[in-house]
Amino acid sequence: MRFELTGSTWGEEEKQAIFDVVKSNRFTMGPRVQEFEEKFAAHFGMRYAVMANSGSSANLIAVASLFYRKDNPLKRGDEVIVPCISWATTYHPLHQYGLKLKFVDVDLKTLTIDVAELKKAITGKTRMVVAVSVLGNPCRFDEITGLCAENNIILFEDNCESMGARFDGRYTGTFGFVNTFSTFFSHHISTMEGGLALTNDKEMYNLLKSIRNHGWTRGQDEDSPVFEKRDDDFYEAYRFILPGYNVRPSEIHGAIGSRQLDKLDGFLKVRRKNAEHFVGLFGNDKRFIIQSETGESSWFCFTMIVNPEWTADRKRVLQTLRQAGIEYRIITGGNILRHDVIRYYNHEVTKSTNADIAHYNGFFVGNFSEDIRDKIDYLHETLATL
Ligand SMILES: Cc1ncc(COP(=O)(O)O)c(C=O)c1O
Repeated sequence: MRFELTGSTWGEEEKQAIFDVVKSNRFTMGPRVQEFEEKFAAHFGMRYAVMANSGSSANLIAVASLFYRKDNPLKRGDEVIVPCISWATTYHPLHQYGLKLKFVDVDLKTLTIDVAELKKAITGKTRMVVAVSVLGNPCRFDEITGLCAENNIILFEDNCESMGARFDGRYTGTFGFVNTFSTFFSHHISTMEGGLALTNDKEMYNLLKSIRNHGWTRGQDEDSPVFEKRDDDFYEAYRFILPGYNVRPSEIHGAIGSRQLDKLDGFLKVRRKNAEHFVGLFGNDKRFIIQSETGESSWFCFTMIVNPEWTADRKRVLQTLRQAGIEYRIITGGNILRHDVIRYYNHEVTKSTNADIAHYNGFFVGNFSEDIRDKIDYLHETLATL
């Protein structure tokens, strides 16, 4: 048997959606992207969604937009608190916009930011917290939203790994002032490449749209708060107001997104059934620390940290998995502090003990939207031989 890291989420509907775009002969961002954005925002109970060509781009335009708000914009040198475990492009845009990154450790069981450490890290200089629900598992949003509100701190949610998760019944990716999602292959839904930003703020929405699209006024709301229309159609047609990018998605991405979103709830049910099975088998296995659920996880995958108190090391475990045809990989990107790129960041570290344990002792195996309980059994049998 093989146990892969991921599987496809596409069926005939997605292929048909691609053909429909080809037949329409309109490929660049247009009505299908808009339809997906509207469906996506409605699904998560938010006012506005802006699609980009990746989750990384969604992070980039979301960070950029915060610098161009009329009131209280972020400024270069401002301090932002981030967890030590996330994907590289959670951090890069923060660095690229000149923010100072303050790294806070994660909780070893949940792998999300350690709230007690976060509390200690907040100072009068903290302008923003980036909350990352790691691999489907929600952050402690009750505490985090409280801390941000009390201290007048912007909450930014990078929810690229956790579509469909909930905390206190509310979807992750809706707690932040701005929230990002990825629809990359292997995520809960896939447009192959793609990502979205969600917000309830009209100014942010229009900033996101302009920065996605060359910093142009094209596509702005009639009553956009971001600029004032002038009475000269010739110049208005090509008017640039912000230092933006071109990170637009294509119509193919939008069309697939709508088909995939229709299937999201079904996908989540299957992922959760697999998870129940995994937790049943490994929940009491003292050799491994598995991710403990906060709220309702959308179970991107199954993390396993080789307990430092156990005699076997990760190398031996991985060798056994490799020989058995079971795929594995590092937990998200591991501890970002252990990557070469860190030398470029203006940063400070409060503590990273648990992130290091996850980095050096952890790995994950796949979960996807198919019934893989037999593969999980196979994993269990394979690890029993150790
Ligand atoms: C937390 C997090 N942020 C951002 C991204 C980037 O998303 P993308 O691969 O769509 O660029 C990822 C990728 O999975 C991620 O895990």
